[in-house]
Amino acid sequence: MTQTPQEQFDNALRAGGLDAAAVAALATRGLELRLIPTPARAGDVPAESADIEKLPDFPAVSDWYRSVSRGFLDPEPDEKGLSARFAAAVSRRNIGVFDAATAQPQLPIGTFGSFVTELTVPGEVTIPAFAITAVTVAATHRRRGIARAMMEGELRAAVAVGLPVAVLTVSESSIYQRYGFAPSAPAATWVIDRKRAGFTGPATLGRVDYVSREQFRELAPKLHDRIRLSSPGEIIPTPMHWDRFAGTLPGSKNADALRFVQYRDAAGDVQGLVVYSLREHDTDYSKTGFDVSLMMTANDEAYAAMWRYIFEHDLIGDITMPLRSVDEPVRWMLADQRAATVTVVDHQYVRILDVAAALESRAYGSAGRVVFEVTDPLGIDAGRFALAVDESGRGVVTRDVSDEADATLSAVELSALLIGGTSAQTLVSAGRLSVTSVGVAAQLDAMFLTATEPRLSFWY
Ligand SMILES: CC(C)(COP(=O)(O)OP(=O)(O)OC[C@H]1O[C@@H](n2cnc3c(N)ncnc32)[C@H](O)[C@@H]1OP(=O)(O)O)[C@@H](O)C(=O)NCCC(=O)NCCS
Repeated sequence: MTQTPQEQFDNALRAGGLDAAAVAALATRGLELRLIPTPARAGDVPAESADIEKLPDFPAVSDWYRSVSRGFLDPEPDEKGLSARFAAAVSRRNIGVFDAATAQPQLPIGTFGSFVTELTVPGEVTIPAFAITAVTVAATHRRRGIARAMMEGELRAAVAVGLPVAVLTVSESSIYQRYGFAPSAPAATWVIDRKRAGFTGPATLGRVDYVSREQFRELAPKLHDRIRLSSPGEIIPTPMHWDRFAGTLPGSKNADALRFVQYRDAAGDVQGLVVYSLREHDTDYSKTGFDVSLMMTANDEAYAAMWRYIFEHDLIGDITMPLRSVDEPVRWMLADQRAATVTVVDHQYVRILDVAAALESRAYGSAGRVVFEVTDPLGIDAGRFALAVDESGRGVVTRDVSDEADATLSAVELSALLIGGTSAQTLVSAGRLSVTSVGVAAQLDAMFLTATEPRLSFWY
């Protein structure tokens, strides 16, 4: 059977072994870097937890997850949670750093996980991406360069197999720019005072119905797959992410409180899904909170219908919806726009690993030629690159050109520009991008900025 590009990268990464420089850097501190074996395919995982627990790799994978939970301040996972996580670790590349001198030497003191995914870039296309997750260092071992050794080594491992970009979401935002990552798609949390808002959204012809947890779990990946290309910044959620949304992952927070709703259009096709829970008010039942954990809609009609469903819910005070755009159409469905409060944070981080492959993957809004002088904090890909975009919006990159650079920037700012949500003129004003003339920044914005604000609908 022919492999998809994603499977090819998966296999190459897993076959690639550890980065020798990272192994050596950690060995000088008396630490050992190891690959944690994970199942290659879903078919390698038995259906029953009792059978998973008998697998030879189960103890090592479980200890790795115990360390991840400890690092993220989560409670100790139970056996059921561990077997579910073992099953979810299909095609993952997980590494651990071990200190033989600790009281529990089987538990890694450093963890770093990754999986291969597709990042949506402008033009309704994707680029293969190295997605990073579960980066933790035990509180007993912090600030000694362990995270840096893992990050540098794993980025080199991704480069070695030809992955052109890396992506991650963060718990702390001050850490990752030093490695070349840029906050590229923000996340806006909308809180709306329902009674004050005066919802004016359009009427729709389809119908809204409750669905079961299992029906949602079945429908959600398919709907996401239909819509992810229209949203730069999205990646493909793994089965574990869908289990978390559905509350079907053992140990999922708030699972019993979740409700699931679908929107079907007049033709009967599912065009929208919402997952939410209700938050009781201490003293006033008419001020119950409506907390949305996910809303996915394939078109404007489904979007309006889902918001109408939420607004028409009785006994609701405030509506909270995280991981949305700043420029949501719902603002224009409110008679009183001040009923909405929007808080914005950095969310999807992108790091270019191969400048030519990354810049050539996307479509551009305008023709033009720009010469970039790119520096790289980790020395992964740097130099002078010419990007020439033709009238159809396709770009061709030439390396090592001798022309004078129009724009000088590091991998961080170039990564921020890649998916179209960051303005070059803003970066110039912030002193993060230098250009030979004001016209260059305007030209970059005409080429790179997208009409659709980049967005990522989940954490990973
Ligand atoms: C974040 C974490 C992985 C860092 O591990 P660490 O081994 O202490 O990090 P390092 O010693 O390798 O430090 C790497 C660099 O990041 C900086 N850094 C590390 N933690 C930082 C923090 N919390 N805030 C700001 N900077 C931080 C260090 O100063 C260092 O900078 P330098 O190399 O430029 O001097 C660790 O503190 C941790 O596990 N935190 C809890 C879990 C978590 O938040 N993980 C991150 C998920 S996004």
